[in-house]
Amino acid sequence: MKTVDVPYWHTRSEDGVILPAFLDEDSVAEIRARKVLPDDIFVASFPKSGSTWMKSMLMDLLKCEVPMYSVYPASYLNSLKSPRIFKEHLPLHLLPDDVRKCKVIYLVRNPKDVVVSYQHHMTLFSIDEYSENLNTLVELFCSGKTQFGDWCSALRDWCFQDQIPSLLIVSYEDMSRDCFTTMKRVLKFLEQDVPDEKVREVVENSRFEQMKKRDLNYVPGCPSFLGKGAMTDDKKHFLREGKVGTWKKHLTVANNEKLDEYLRRDMELFLKIKDLDI
Ligand code: A3P
Repeated sequence: MKTVDVPYWHTRSEDGVILPAFLDEDSVAEIRARKVLPDDIFVASFPKSGSTWMKSMLMDLLKCEVPMYSVYPASYLNSLKSPRIFKEHLPLHLLPDDVRKCKVIYLVRNPKDVVVSYQHHMTLFSIDEYSENLNTLVELFCSGKTQFGDWCSALRDWCFQDQIPSLLIVSYEDMSRDCFTTMKRVLKFLEQDVPDEKVREVVENSRFEQMKKRDLNYVPGCPSFLGKGAMTDDKKHFLREGKVGTWKKHLTVANNEKLDEYLRRDMELFLKIKDLDI
């Protein structure tokens, strides 16, 4: 496989994992050393797998904040009421060891849709100073050099190394096909009793078009580079298409072949998650 240099400078590498620059060496060390509470809950995923959607529904269902663990300072996270729920994209080995003892929901999405969504994401925020095309992003993805690391390694570490006894795998495809049933499964896993009527209401209010009307791009307490004015183009939106399988219209035959070659190396992972329809 051809290796590519990371063309955008606003990143750095930790253990070979490409990270956004705000996650500097000291920040990662501080995150690794954080005290994890036994009832903390982590919603982990590779970026672009539907984590904002899941976060929004959990916030509405459980009336709590769901901050990104690596973005917010420990002082803020420690001020939250237990059980705390965090979303996170960092690979498991860069998080505190005790995360493995927590309940973890791992969100997974067809990696070809992830790539297309990631291209949109990378060209969305001015801070990334990224203007390469989708071909380059496919190359980066297949070399594990998109931000937050290698897609297959993340899936293997979080889901298939038996590191986390209390794990629920949820796919974007599940959420798209039947969000109500998926969220009932999530609530059962979290041992949270929420009336069906409320679940239906939250699912309805979190539909793509509904969410797109909300100002999700400004997250209180988030560093300013993710806030208002952080976009390269005001007409672009964080929520792009919100559909399953749009890779078919965006990827070239060559892109698709390259991704198949990359994914074939870890084929046994996909046999375990049939939903992804790769
Ligand atoms: P697309 O770029 O394919 O539209 P994350 O939040 O993990 O970064 O994932 C972002 C992806 O989830 C984007 O995919 C985004 O549009 C999609 N998404 C966010 N909210 C959604 C919703 N309510 N319904 C469907 N897809 C949603």
